[in-house]
Amino acid sequence: MARKLIAGNWKMNLLRPEGTALARDLALRLARTVDPAFDLLVCPPATIIAPIADAVQGSGLLVGGQDCHSAQEGAHTGDVSARMLADLGCSHVIVGHSERRQDHGEIDLMVAEKAAAAQAEGLVAIICIGETEAERNDGRALQVCSRQIAGSLPQGATAENTVIAYEPVWAIGTGRTPTTADVAEVHAHIRAALGARVPSEAAGIRILYGGSVKPGNAAELLAVPNVDGALVGGASLKADDFWAIAEASAG
Ligand code: 13P
Repeated sequence: MARKLIAGNWKMNLLRPEGTALARDLALRLARTVDPAFDLLVCPPATIIAPIADAVQGSGLLVGGQDCHSAQEGAHTGDVSARMLADLGCSHVIVGHSERRQDHGEIDLMVAEKAAAAQAEGLVAIICIGETEAERNDGRALQVCSRQIAGSLPQGATAENTVIAYEPVWAIGTGRTPTTADVAEVHAHIRAALGARVPSEAAGIRILYGGSVKPGNAAELLAVPNVDGALVGGASLKADDFWAIAEASAG
């Protein structure tokens, strides 16, 4: 099994001084760790990716974007392309986060196009899916996830260029998490949906859990079958907390 991927989504937080300090702190811890059991990724806001990528170069700390446009260049004021992220040294980009689906009306097809653009530039696309609270209460969580997998995964998705992040919308920033049994059920369902979509790749595609992952619950969430890592929001803004989560992945 691939090493677990512990990814930090900084969202619209941190300016250059504290962002670079946080990244440097993590890079130092990683550099001091002999044969780490996990891959560690930070996804800062686009404005500070460049200084962070420069600051952590060679440390093993991976850097990613939080979104990209589906085109590589052109008349798209305010947008950032996958090519631009790759140019800064990014290895990953998050696409289809529920905050983008909500705030920017992104639908599955757009997410698939962004993922394809990322993969075309050699980036790993972290494709986010997950049900809302209403959908879970209606008993439709599994159905929503398989529909989002079917619609958001581009042609040519492989275990090398694709990561899925299951983030139940109601667990994001709320301190609430699904039970480990619920996480196990959804992740197994996602694995099966990947099997239907990309049979030869499904076993190797990493499926992250996201939504109120903290040092206190990381070990039990990361031990659930088919949980291949975590996508961490709030707790990724503190080096001690994010590092504790990463260490918890080692089991
Ligand atoms: P929190 O960890 O703050 O709940 O955020 C999760 C998330 O949205 C990561 O992408």
